[in-house]
Amino acid sequence: MPTSVPVESYASFLNTRAARRKPSPIRALQAVLATAPAGLISLGGGMPNPALFPFSGISVTLRDGTVLSLSEESVRAALQYSPTPGIPELVSRLERVQRGEHSPPGAAGDRMAVMVGTGSQDLLAKAFDTFLDEETPVVIEAPTYSGTLAALEPIGCPLITIPSSTDGTGIDVGAVEELAAAFESGERAGPRPRLIYVIPTAGNPTGATMPLENRRRLYAAARRLGSLIIEDDPYRFLDFGEVVDPADADADAAAAAARSSTPVARTPSLLSMDEDGRVLRFDSFSKLLSAGLRIGTVTGPKELVDALGLHAQASCLHTSGVSQALVLELFRHWGVGDKTPPAEDGSARCMGDMEAHIAEVASFYRSQRDACIEAINKHLRDPGLAELYAVPSGGMFAWIKVPGLADTTALVKERAAAAGVLFVPGSAFVPGGGSAHSAFVRASFSVASHEQLDEAFRRFASAIRDSGSD
Ligand SMILES: Cc1ncc(COP(=O)(O)O)c(C=O)c1O
Repeated sequence: MPTSVPVESYASFLNTRAARRKPSPIRALQAVLATAPAGLISLGGGMPNPALFPFSGISVTLRDGTVLSLSEESVRAALQYSPTPGIPELVSRLERVQRGEHSPPGAAGDRMAVMVGTGSQDLLAKAFDTFLDEETPVVIEAPTYSGTLAALEPIGCPLITIPSSTDGTGIDVGAVEELAAAFESGERAGPRPRLIYVIPTAGNPTGATMPLENRRRLYAAARRLGSLIIEDDPYRFLDFGEVVDPADADADAAAAAARSSTPVARTPSLLSMDEDGRVLRFDSFSKLLSAGLRIGTVTGPKELVDALGLHAQASCLHTSGVSQALVLELFRHWGVGDKTPPAEDGSARCMGDMEAHIAEVASFYRSQRDACIEAINKHLRDPGLAELYAVPSGGMFAWIKVPGLADTTALVKERAAAAGVLFVPGSAFVPGGGSAHSAFVRASFSVASHEQLDEAFRRFASAIRDSGSD
């Protein structure tokens, strides 16, 4: 029976560089400072004198007209160097949010730590740079997020690519189970994958969400392989709370779902089933609050989060204090993380008024998705010009196949651009250092109006027709 990852084993997941990193003696003083008694005279650290900063106040106006003005103390915290894991009150609110949202069980719950990063991209890149080297394989879905490939490919680690399932549910979990069986039987030799990287909700680029059962099976396969799971979940809050069969990709079904006003039941995360302490979960506030804040978080076993912290101590010291302070002020205003989730019912969410904001954001993107699907059906699917991989059940992307084409790069860059529409060619999401081929394109439905979506797919249809007439 698999057991939880022993604390001492976490060191075996670190690469040589990560194992050599030592805590910065000066950064360590930040923790002392954060809990120091009033009246402490600090001659330590290299804090610039805040009296010389040109800023004296920070205030922001919310969309509803509310003005949030940071207190003097918050402004001071925002402008000065602060602890590497994040401004302490923000981190403790985030910890309550994560416990309420995921109730990590067993070892994961006991050892859970949260660290703030400069977007989840920063934390993912730090994770890959902490755990992987040229000899340590990593399992990824193909296609996957291009930013992950950008961070992984230069490491030179062997990429075990698992194709997306044919049923529109993201990574083919059966293939991960086969991989585990191949290692167990000895049919496959060599190092086992150190990491399994997945985007469980509304994948980028596929738009697919892994159903709960697939998440459970993936977790079980990770146990068999002895791998950590990198759960990259920036679209969790853009989950429309429905799984739609791509074979049933008609606008009526989507529109019926859109009319439903029931709060979204988000699919349980991999962190929520992490008995062993093998999941590192990455969240992002880019899609929910704003991308330019560059605020993301990593949540997982303290030993692993601390390893990313040592990386941050040597790279950025900490994420922008101004961004963190703005998010903290918003959290205070909305009551995010005010409550401690009750131990006997860890599922009680602690989102406060942010839950209403999440519902608004998810509902907006759902109506965008519906308009996108309607346009795809009208201009591409019904005339038989292209197919959808899955009806996106969240997020902001549709993954569209142009049958009969080995690669869509020329179609996108030449014909479609000339017709006045832009997509990302599918090859951007396939490992291969830019030389990969893909018959897909990724369409983002996040900012175009419904009319523009209709026109975009009309133009794309004419570009596909033109390329067929060459
Ligand atoms: C799957 C995935 N992971 C991570 C990121 C990075 O997000 P952030 O803005 O938090 O760095 C993105 C951004 O698009 C993404 O799609």
